[in-house]
Amino acid sequence: MTIIVTGGAGFIGSNFVFHMLEQYPDYRIVCVDKLTYAGNLSTLKTVMDNPNFRFVRADICDRAAIFQLFEEEKPDAVVNFAAESHVDRSIENPEVFLTTNILGTQVLMDACRKYGIGRYHQVSTDEVYGDLPLDRPDLFFTEDTPIHTSSPYSSSKAGADLLVLAYHRTYGLPVTISRCSNNYGPYHFPEKLIPLMIINALADKPLPVYGEGLNVRDWLYVEDHCRAIDLILHKGTVGEVYNVGGHNEMRNIDIVKLICEKLGKPESLITHVADRKGHDMRYAIDPTKIHRELGWLPETKFADGIEKTVRWYLTHRDWWEEIISGDYQKYYEKMYGDREQLPIG
Ligand code: NAD
Ligand code: DAU
Repeated sequence: MTIIVTGGAGFIGSNFVFHMLEQYPDYRIVCVDKLTYAGNLSTLKTVMDNPNFRFVRADICDRAAIFQLFEEEKPDAVVNFAAESHVDRSIENPEVFLTTNILGTQVLMDACRKYGIGRYHQVSTDEVYGDLPLDRPDLFFTEDTPIHTSSPYSSSKAGADLLVLAYHRTYGLPVTISRCSNNYGPYHFPEKLIPLMIINALADKPLPVYGEGLNVRDWLYVEDHCRAIDLILHKGTVGEVYNVGGHNEMRNIDIVKLICEKLGKPESLITHVADRKGHDMRYAIDPTKIHRELGWLPETKFADGIEKTVRWYLTHRDWWEEIISGDYQKYYEKMYGDREQLPIG
């Protein structure tokens, strides 16, 4: 079995590469990644010499390069993680989100059609459902919740999902889609909430919480997401969407306070800053379908996962210090440099 994993030098894609190489020693995993600011070859250094692994630097929008790769590898399946993934960046510059997330998906599926692939799996997000109100804790996203997006990022992911389902109906392409909640764990890029707060706290820098910090996210340890995709790939029903989430809702402010506690840092580092535009209030996944049909359940409790994650950042300083020493500084200055501070707390 040969599987093309796109975006495998990023956060979840790399964890998926590790998972698959460990679980299936006889599979060939071909990682395709453009190595944007979010992709790091150093993340994959432990598998580079594995004879069952191949890394190819390519843009999923580059039709010639992608078709050439399919010609060479004749893959059995494709798992598409490659995307522009950060909501704040999509608010600053939507275009690349539409290009990579929608047109890149189209190129991959066209190659799948031409080479008669066994499965195309699209890694999507719970953000395609929009958000839920804070005063209705009884509401959850199911696979039947209407698509209702808030940001250019989530709109681009929703556009891709619709295209994937259209390729299934129109051309009979054997597709599946997973829509997962917020992941956390090793190799999470420092622009995202949890790593950003850990790294800033370690340097005694302000911890920039958007607005009051009451927004709720449904956190899942990355390895549990990888196991869910593995199950869908092997046992999922073609044409179906599967929600993935672990019923672990937390307010941003509570996450940041927990990180302060774990690192022995004062909560006075917390700085409330101007809110994200169009900021989604609450995400909450109903994972009944994947549990009932495929037997998936999360294995890592948040208390253990966050402990492991904080420890990982403490013991892998080289990985993130290299990242934050480069263009990240410019990004940080642009996003946070003159962001208004709010008189909260
Ligand atoms: P990430 O930003 O950490 O990694 C994205 C990877 O894709 C990087 O390695 C980057 O170099 C690569 N890439 C970007 N554009 C590319 C292109 N045009 N061609 C080839 N490679 C390209 O993202 P992530 O957090 O690992 O997310 C992976 C996928 O999972 C995304 O599709 C995202 O929408 C989805 N998702 C993420 C989360 C989460 O909490 N992080 C939750 C649900 C779904
Ligand atoms: O729900 C799945 C999605 O989760 C994925 O599809 C996205 O790719 C992924 O980036 C993530 O999106 P979020 O916007 O939820 O994640 P982020 O880490 O950017 O923000 C989490 C919450 O923390 C959100 O409410 C905004 C807030 N936040 C974020 C940052 C970066 C802050 O308060 N301060 C910050 O500096």
